[in-house]
Amino acid sequence: MSRPLRVGIAGLGRLGRLHAQQLARHTVGCELVSACSPVADERAWARDTLGVTALHEDFGAFVHDPQLDAVVLVTPTALHAEQTIAALEAGKHVFVEKPLALAVADCERVEAVARKHPDRLAMVGFVRRFDPSYANARARIEANGIGRPFLVRSQTCDKLDPSGFFVRFAPSSGGIFMDCSVHDIDLARWLLGYPKAQRAFATGSVAVHHELEAIGDVDNGLAIVEFEGGARAVFYASRTFAHGHETSTEVIGTAGKLLVGAGAARDRLQISDADGVRHIALADFHERFADAFRLEMTAFVAACRDGVTAGATLNDATEATRIGSAIARSLASGLPEAIA
Ligand code: NAI
Repeated sequence: MSRPLRVGIAGLGRLGRLHAQQLARHTVGCELVSACSPVADERAWARDTLGVTALHEDFGAFVHDPQLDAVVLVTPTALHAEQTIAALEAGKHVFVEKPLALAVADCERVEAVARKHPDRLAMVGFVRRFDPSYANARARIEANGIGRPFLVRSQTCDKLDPSGFFVRFAPSSGGIFMDCSVHDIDLARWLLGYPKAQRAFATGSVAVHHELEAIGDVDNGLAIVEFEGGARAVFYASRTFAHGHETSTEVIGTAGKLLVGAGAARDRLQISDADGVRHIALADFHERFADAFRLEMTAFVAACRDGVTAGATLNDATEATRIGSAIARSLASGLPEAIA
C-alpha cells in the first residue's frame, strides 16, 4: 500500500482517547480519519483535539464508510464481538480491545466470520506482548534461556481508585478475572508455549469495594490454572493497592527463571531523605504500558499495510476467554472447574 492506511476509531473513553492520540500523532503509515461515539462531547473532543472530520454517532454508518481501510474498536466489552463481525463483513481490517467477548461461543462466532474474510486482519489488544521487557522474556524462552518453562506467576494490581470507576464498570467488564487477569492469562499461554488449559480454581476477597458483593465480584482475586503436560499458572489481580500500579510476571523453567516488572517504581529515580528511601510509584496501566500501546498500534498498522501479522490472534483471544470464564465460574461455584 503506497498511501497511508485510513483508520477509524470507535469508543473514545478512558483507553479510546489514548489509542486515538497514538493513531493521529505517533503512528507511522496511517491517518485517523473517522471517529464514532454515542457521546457528543467525545465526538467534539476528536474534532477539536485531533482534527478528525468524519464523526459518527451511529456505529453502522461508521463501519460502512467506504473511505475506511481499518477500524480500531475501544468500545465496552459487550459490543466487541458484534462490532468485529460487522467490521469484517464491511471489508475492514480490525483491531479490537481485550477481551474479545465474555462468552466462548461469541468468540467462536467472530472466528467463523473471520475465516470467511481471510484477506482482512483481525488483531486483539493484548498489549503486554508489545512491552519490550515481556518481548525480551519471550525471546529468551524461545532461545532456551531457562530450559523448559513450567510455571507462570503473574499479577495485575491496580492502585485503589476511590472514585469507584471500575465498580460502575464491573457489571459489563465480566469481573476482575475477565477484565484484568485476562492479560496474565494471555501472557501465560504465550510464555508457556500455548499448552491446552484443563482446569481452573479461583477464590478471592472483597477488601474495600463491598458494592461488588451484589454482583459476585471481588476486588482481590486469586486463580490457579492447570495445563496439559504439567505446566501451571497462578494469577493474582487486585484493585486496591495503596501505593500504585504493579504488574509483574515470573516464569520458572527447568534451567532458570525470568521476572518482568518487579515492584511499582515509575522510573529509576530513588529518593533518599529524612523520611527514608523510596521511589515514586506507577499510577496506572497507562503509565506502565505507554511504550507498549505505541508499539501495538504501530504493529497493527504495519500488519494491515504489509500483511505480516503480529500480536494476539482471534484464536488466542478465544482461548483467553475460555480460561477466564472457567476461572470466573470457579469463583462463583467455589469448586475447581474443567476447561472444556
Ligand atoms: P470507557 O467506558 O471509558 O469507554 C467506552 C467508550 O465506548 C466510550 O467512549 C463510549 O462512549 C463508547 N461507546 C459506547 N457504546 C458505543 C457504541 N455503540 N459505538 C461506539 N462507541 C461506543 O471504557 P474503557 O476503559 O476505555 O474500555 C474500553 C475497552 O477497552 C474495554 O473492552 C476494556 O476491556 C478495554 N481496555 C483495555 C485495556 C488494556 O490494557 N488493553 C485497558 C483499559 C480498557
